[in-house]
Amino acid sequence: MEQVKLGIVGLGRLGRNHAANINYKILNAELTAVCSAIPEEVDAVMKEMKPSYGSTDYMDLFKDRDLDGIVIASNSAFHSQMVIDAANAGVKNIYCEKPLGMTLEEIELMKTAVETNGVNIFQIGYNRRFDKSLQMMKKKIDEGFIGKPILIKLANRDPVWDRENLIKFSPTSGGLVFDMLTHDYDVARWLIGSDAQTVYGIGGAYGYEGLEAVGDIDNCMLTVAFDNGVMGFLETSRNSTHGYHVEVEVFGTEGSVRMGTVPNRDRVVSYNKNGVTTECVQWFYEFWEPTFEAELQHFADCIQSNTKPVADFMDGYKAVQWAFAAKEAVDKRQIVTMK
Ligand SMILES: NC(=O)c1ccc[n+]([C@@H]2O[C@H](COP(=O)([O-])OP(=O)(O)OC[C@H]3O[C@@H](n4cnc5c(N)ncnc54)[C@H](O)[C@@H]3O)[C@@H](O)[C@H]2O)c1
Repeated sequence: MEQVKLGIVGLGRLGRNHAANINYKILNAELTAVCSAIPEEVDAVMKEMKPSYGSTDYMDLFKDRDLDGIVIASNSAFHSQMVIDAANAGVKNIYCEKPLGMTLEEIELMKTAVETNGVNIFQIGYNRRFDKSLQMMKKKIDEGFIGKPILIKLANRDPVWDRENLIKFSPTSGGLVFDMLTHDYDVARWLIGSDAQTVYGIGGAYGYEGLEAVGDIDNCMLTVAFDNGVMGFLETSRNSTHGYHVEVEVFGTEGSVRMGTVPNRDRVVSYNKNGVTTECVQWFYEFWEPTFEAELQHFADCIQSNTKPVADFMDGYKAVQWAFAAKEAVDKRQIVTMK
């Protein structure tokens, strides 16, 4: 196949960017069909990017046998139904945004649908695996540069949110642990090549009045014991006053590798009577922008060459399983053992 024909469901905050990446940047892919429940979003993308057709009914795309793959970028609560409907309708190549599903029951149903319908390529949207710095860290770890890995530390901090927006967003996101930390857990298990054995955590609502009332928190820290003996420390926050900030360090018997110590927006350093400053990245998309193109490039390449993606269905499944254990650990302040 010369050009990979892709259809996308969801044209919101992230889906619109995915559509643009497919349309403008991924040379071996073609944005063929677009879908959103919001007609204005479909109209806007049809006008600007001119795919073959647009629809507000995702089944139009799932039944279209001319499409080589479907990108699902809808709200997390709809992933399970859409993946199940796509698999049942005969879609063979699916990219799905993270998290895979919102409940353990959902991910089981998805697994059955994907397996029984013979879905060929299933990629989950863990875009951080496509970050060049993290890829370099993984290469060095795999080559033995740090010796035997002892500890992995991850910080994942959102800039300060508008309080009302956060309270509105929180119930649909699965809450802080679920929304923020599945990315970090995926990065950790990919970098050190091991699943979690136990998880313990504490957290609370420190900065946003009313957040606790909707069952959420804004800061937490977790300790994770991995099967291979590596100790994990994961912390996350919605209160980073300087901007969006992600740090990763893997420390071993012979050295360490780390990234993201200063969340520079660019290479400018400014000096005046108040001191020395650098501007910070303010939002996740800015920080991870190249990875969003790279992950969809990978999806198109996997379809073209019929190869397994680097982040697949079981990676998504394991991250959701872990997130439930981690949430239970924080809620009960107990060590939870992974089943
Ligand atoms: N990888 C990352 O770093 C990252 C970052 C942000 C969001 N996400 C994920 O991306 C997904 C989308 O997030 P978002 O912020 O773009 O959401 P959003 O609310 O901005 O957009 C959601 C889109 O889904 C569409 N949609 C919902 N139900 C539909 C239906 N039945 N039929 C057709 N379209 C439907 C909406 O019309 C909208 O276009 C979420 O799962 C989120 O977790 C991932």
